[in-house]
Amino acid sequence: MKKILVTGALGQIGSELVVKCREIYGNDNVIATDIRRNASRVVEEGPFEIVDVTDESALFETAKKYKVDTIIHLAALLSATAEKKPVFAWNLNMGGLMNALEVARNLNCQFFTPSSIGAFGPTTPKDQTPQDTIQRPTTMYGINKVAGELLCDYYYKKFGVDTRGVRFPGLISYVTPPGGGTTDYAVDIYYKALEEGHYTSYIAEGTYMDMMYMPDALSAIIQLMEADPSELKHRNAFNITAFSAAPEDFANAIRRHIPDFTMDYDVDPVRQAIAESWPNSLDDSAAREEWGFKPEFDLDKMTEDMLSKLKVKKMA
Ligand code: SER
Repeated sequence: MKKILVTGALGQIGSELVVKCREIYGNDNVIATDIRRNASRVVEEGPFEIVDVTDESALFETAKKYKVDTIIHLAALLSATAEKKPVFAWNLNMGGLMNALEVARNLNCQFFTPSSIGAFGPTTPKDQTPQDTIQRPTTMYGINKVAGELLCDYYYKKFGVDTRGVRFPGLISYVTPPGGGTTDYAVDIYYKALEEGHYTSYIAEGTYMDMMYMPDALSAIIQLMEADPSELKHRNAFNITAFSAAPEDFANAIRRHIPDFTMDYDVDPVRQAIAESWPNSLDDSAAREEWGFKPEFDLDKMTEDMLSKLKVKKMA
């Protein structure tokens, strides 16, 4: 990767990935794009352009103007919002991806886009879900993700576009909160623990999903994009995970730092149904074998870091 265009650069992943990529590849070599502008490092520390990914020519012109050789396509709606606005989700998630893939094909760019644990469904084996298995998701988001995985494979096989991707679990970070996801509780709980000493979880006790701290997610993207292509048997949609956890596991980890922390439940049927249709835990051995994926943060190490970083953020 030398000159990278990032879509959805002000979102949960983009706002940290852009900063990290600029540290590695140089500020001018990472072009951040989004549909809005804000006062942030992403906008202020390097090239930034307003681009709507559903406008293919705007995306193409921006990529051409900066002579990019890599596209990291992050602009998308998450699972719970996509259930509320399924037609909009289809148009944005699939239309945006098609446009970004076409720009990559026309300008001969390397390409990354994330898939998700949402690409699995109720008929998928739930525990240690294999890399290659049944994928019959029951959410609009999941349908978008499976179609996206297949499209990326297609662009590689048919046109030789160097497409790569992972299936992210729930991502947790202290920088930019996610919006409209099913796994967002795992971020909210840390904010509420510090602000109120209490959290009401919309996901039920005993509901396990895979999770990952953002630094591991960012390293995974960079490591996969830099990986020797001859080692990659899968290329797209690698299962990756750092740990599997239920709401009570987060509460117990937080209590080691805030002993009086309390949690109760007010389950949201929509997000609970989505969570129950997803795996409890993924088998990520293909990612470990093919490109050396190895997360650093387990639940306890992440909790310690998350709470200390959020405390600093609150004081700022
Ligand atoms: N974190 C995402 C969501 O909950 C899953 O990819 O929608």
